[in-house]
Amino acid sequence: MKVGYYQNDPIFGDKQANFDEARKVLSGKTADLIVFPELFATGYTFTSKKEAAQLAETSEGETAAFLKEMSEETGAVIVAGFPEVSDSLVYNSAIMVYQDKVIDTFRKIHLFNKEKIWFTPGNQKLSVHEVKGIRIGMMVCFDWIFPEVTRTLALKGAQIIAHPCNLVLPYAQKAMTTRCIENRVYAVTTNRIGRETRGDDDFTFTGQSQITAFNSEVLSSAPANETHFDVVEIDLSNADNKMVNDHNDVLKDRRTSFYEIMD
Ligand code: ACM
Repeated sequence: MKVGYYQNDPIFGDKQANFDEARKVLSGKTADLIVFPELFATGYTFTSKKEAAQLAETSEGETAAFLKEMSEETGAVIVAGFPEVSDSLVYNSAIMVYQDKVIDTFRKIHLFNKEKIWFTPGNQKLSVHEVKGIRIGMMVCFDWIFPEVTRTLALKGAQIIAHPCNLVLPYAQKAMTTRCIENRVYAVTTNRIGRETRGDDDFTFTGQSQITAFNSEVLSSAPANETHFDVVEIDLSNADNKMVNDHNDVLKDRRTSFYEIMD
């Protein structure tokens, strides 16, 4: 099973240029799953709610069409971030496509910083989709800091977490080694690179996209400031074995009666 990522440096607002760059990088590449960054074709640093809405699309828009083309080109299930409009609300979403089909979208649950101004928080339950024999869960960027998200996806059977990101803080890649080992799942955390100075904001994105194994091993780590594509071979059946040793199962050994949930 080959899983990979495409770490890019999008030009803000120029979807066609960002599609063309991805087309060039993915030409002739093959994989089973490829993860793109959060908001990979629009850029991140919006200056108004209106601007986010103007760049947003439905799950059957031009970005979905482009990703279906990339799925046909590579043979891969593709997961990528885009601003999704639905019933006049705009979400920071990930979309999963395979061949000529949209499998699902996931609307980021935990919005980061000013995303709380531009976007509506996700309103759908976390779910896992089996495509090409791979059980895939999606989360978007800052969802990583809430361990409940990866745990829920693991409990729902995910073998691999597709994790589009636009990271500006240096913590997520390290944290994903813990997220993976505590759930014995794989993860593809795909970040972008580059700097965006727009409105009052000046963000430098930290690259270092990462493929993390069920045992916390880092299987691929991208450079911090170059566009990058990589694919690694993994044995997904490792994610079906939740035993840390002969006596400990990371899911079944949970003692939920001791976990007081405080809203
Ligand atoms: C982030 O959630 N884009 C940091």
